[in-house]
Amino acid sequence: MKDQLEKLTEDAFCEIEHVETIHDLNEKKASFLGKKSKLQEIMSKMKDLTAEARKELGLLANQFKIKVEEKIETKRKEIEDKAVLKKLEEEKIDVTLPGKKIKTGTLHPLMSIIEELEDAFIGMGYQIKEGPEVEEDLYNFEMLNLPKGHPAREMQDSFYINETTLLRTHTSPVQAHTLLEAKGKPVKIICPGKVYRRDADDATHSHQFMQCEGLVVGENVTMADLKGTLTHLAHTIFKDELEIRFRPSFFPFTEPSVEVDVQCFKCKGKGCSLCKGSGWIEILGAGMVHPNVLEMAGYDRNKYQGFAFGVGIERIAMLKYGIDDIRQFYINDERFLKQF
Ligand code: DAH
Repeated sequence: MKDQLEKLTEDAFCEIEHVETIHDLNEKKASFLGKKSKLQEIMSKMKDLTAEARKELGLLANQFKIKVEEKIETKRKEIEDKAVLKKLEEEKIDVTLPGKKIKTGTLHPLMSIIEELEDAFIGMGYQIKEGPEVEEDLYNFEMLNLPKGHPAREMQDSFYINETTLLRTHTSPVQAHTLLEAKGKPVKIICPGKVYRRDADDATHSHQFMQCEGLVVGENVTMADLKGTLTHLAHTIFKDELEIRFRPSFFPFTEPSVEVDVQCFKCKGKGCSLCKGSGWIEILGAGMVHPNVLEMAGYDRNKYQGFAFGVGIERIAMLKYGIDDIRQFYINDERFLKQF
């Protein structure tokens, strides 16, 4: 029986060694140590032995049990460790792989021009104003010194909603709103926003486009202030120390009125295809606020002066980025927008 036990130990060790799963290991445990195991079979024959032999066999059986249990536990740990390692291997993250690209949008070129303008003017102590896009004739024209029947109204073909209401044709009505609100006090504002005109859409015209208005009213405001301010505006947009020049013009709400040219940013004034050889590019309209405009808004025309300007955002963006068709701004083609 001693031999039998030794043989059994050998078999158990060999079989347990080759087990690969916990399930099989449990089955081996039952077959070597369980109620119907070979060990039990040997033990059941103990009753026929002498007391001496029984004691010896009992001891050996016990040793067998301990050894096999140990072997099983070692194997169990081995299988479990292997499973953990396998799992770790499977779930390994390769940190050197390229990451997934997160798609982000970019600022629309018109919005980046507006943001640049806002930053520059906030830096000079201006406030940013907004006004309604559906506007009354009163603010869009009359309070800007453009009474009914004034020929200059013809220059801005309008979308009328009824007799007295229209889509604003420029951002200038915000001047009237701001002055009425300020009740005779100094103002310093810019107002970017959408405007509407009854134009046929082509490469340089759109029925809807954007402008930015500027208005400064106070005591001792001069044309020199206007020139300094607009020079700064040109530097802000074209990122260059470019000169500006005034040409006489006419707007009903300013007197005198000027059209403002900036030195061509491409050829620095030498003359090129962009500036059609002149060295200058027209960028905006401006002037000293007409005393009638100040008076209609309740300001003392003898005490206050002001300057105003209005700039077309699309025009600036087209010049700055070399865009030849205004419609590109509105069709939202990613290939176009991604370039800015
Ligand atoms: N409102 C004018 C337009 O749309 C532009 C303009 C010119 C605005 C002169 C001004 C200004 O404030 O002073 O054509």
